Amino acid sequence: MHQGELLDDILDQYPEKPEYLIFLLQDIQSKYGYISQDSMGQACEHAGVPLTQGYSVATFYQSFRLDPSGEHDIRVCMGTACHLKGAQRIVDDLSRKLNIKSGETTQDLRYTLSTVNCVGACALAPVIVVDEEYKSGMTAKKMDKQLKIMENELTEDTKEQGNA
Ligand code: FES
Repeated sequence: MHQGELLDDILDQYPEKPEYLIFLLQDIQSKYGYISQDSMGQACEHAGVPLTQGYSVATFYQSFRLDPSGEHDIRVCMGTACHLKGAQRIVDDLSRKLNIKSGETTQDLRYTLSTVNCVGACALAPVIVVDEEYKSGMTAKKMDKQLKIMENELTEDTKEQGNA
């Protein structure tokens, strides 16, 4: 579904004032998982602020995404404990394999890769959160296995959809 179709529902809830911009963006993000260019334009127009202001708000708060997330969300913890145990190597390896940088989504919309601060499980470092599930003591090799599992699942899903 295109974001523009239902945006009126969100816009109508807020007065046309700049201070409501952040609420508009939060609602768009929670409904669609990201804020498209079109949505950003509509939100800024509604709030009466320039587009540049909308983008600076969205980039200031890490929780906003400006592009769609992949089916699988891979977050590598880069807190001190994880960093010391080789998290950077895992990010570099994932980046190379998926051909994306941290903060990006693969073109086929299968994976989103990002780095995060301490996720509160330092004793299990290095930690990677895959689709909200904590994976502990990760290595590039273990991550490879995990990628294969996800790849197989996605292929199975595609097959099932093809048979439906
Ligand atoms: S530093 Fe990674 S869980 Fe704390």
